[in-house]
Amino acid sequence: MSPRPTTTPPPAPRRTGTSERTAYVRAGRRPDPSTGAVVAPIHQTTTFAQAGLGGDLGFTYSRAGNPTVAALEEALGALEGAPPAVCHKTGMAAITALFLGVLQGGDRVAIARAVYGGTVRLAREILDPLGIEATFFDPTDAESVDAALAGAPRLVFIETPANPTLELVDVAAIAARAAGALLAVDNTFQTPLGLQPLELGADVSVYSTTKFIEGHDATLGGALVARDEALLTRLRRITKSVGSTQSPFEAWLTLRGLTTLPLRYEQHCESALVVAEALEAHPFTETVRHPGLASFPQRELAEQQHRFGRRIQLHGGIVTLQIRGGFDAAVRFLGSLRLVLVAENLGAPGTLATHPASMTHGDVPADQRKAAGIDEGLVRLSIGLEDPADLIADLCRALDASQRETPSRGSAKVSEEVAS
Ligand SMILES: Cc1ncc(COP(=O)(O)O)c(C=O)c1O
Repeated sequence: MSPRPTTTPPPAPRRTGTSERTAYVRAGRRPDPSTGAVVAPIHQTTTFAQAGLGGDLGFTYSRAGNPTVAALEEALGALEGAPPAVCHKTGMAAITALFLGVLQGGDRVAIARAVYGGTVRLAREILDPLGIEATFFDPTDAESVDAALAGAPRLVFIETPANPTLELVDVAAIAARAAGALLAVDNTFQTPLGLQPLELGADVSVYSTTKFIEGHDATLGGALVARDEALLTRLRRITKSVGSTQSPFEAWLTLRGLTTLPLRYEQHCESALVVAEALEAHPFTETVRHPGLASFPQRELAEQQHRFGRRIQLHGGIVTLQIRGGFDAAVRFLGSLRLVLVAENLGAPGTLATHPASMTHGDVPADQRKAAGIDEGLVRLSIGLEDPADLIADLCRALDASQRETPSRGSAKVSEEVAS
């Protein structure tokens, strides 16, 4: 694996170039050579016949490789100037393959304090019994970073903006400090359009393609993108061995989602800022966070690190809010939404509201949630593609309802989940 330079000057954020936008439409897609079909077929097969021993045409068995999955892998790699990615059934399968691929018993992994709850669960419940010790650190605090790196971790794993707090991590700064360790960035929230981790010095970009990339609430998936061929070979071998390979149909749907990602993602980002500004002006919100807001605590880093789309800088489609009245008010708010659905996904066409403390991060111990800044009153919104005016009307009406005493529908359920 190629050594990383110890100091990486942060490149100025770039605009998504014309040819890059074209790549979203064309990468991994070419007319089917046998029929001319412009949409490549779904190779829904487990097995590929061979013309005698060793006479395969590049594919043998779909757990090891499949042409439809290979097309998606080619596209995702190309979007980061990398060789074909390694695709997985889910984002968690991709993260598991990464951990198993680069860590062994006795190794350490340093994980940023605010990451998706499933990653914390994986570290605590699967890695720890295997003798792989996870240290959780504050990536915004130099002392905490140094302390985590002093343990000579084999892998440093960060997420930016973090789920659900939207805390940003300066990827180039961590890459410069973490020389000697592999650096993986979960780039699910920004997508390759909003952030190019490999350009900033990371070794691996990690995706839950379930979110913005597939983008239609229809398909689970994950991907690992890297430039180092030896690392990719290792990751591919783990995938084949544990059998977490993506399926042809889901790869096909994900490839289709990728085609419209630049259009969808920029709209998600634009609407998220409009909604965030409206919520911030509402008297019943205490804190509203979105990296595009002037009040965002890491505004400078957002401006320096996030890339531009056609019209705007891409700060993501997620907004978080703390409502006056804390947890009880959040429960009433969630129970009063009509247009916005209460659900556990993000990056979809429809706007979704999530209560991280009981949903996405329900398995993270309460003290660790607190350290990561995940308050019990925190609500995460994934802003969809509806007219922002309709969203604002629904959200503001639910905010008004959040201050009334009467419990709304849904409140009992959320309370039970928090208690469990
Ligand atoms: C940032 C992030 N990474 C990884 C995952 C896991 O992805 P999946 O649900 O596809 O396994 C999620 C899921 O919410 C996520 O938000």
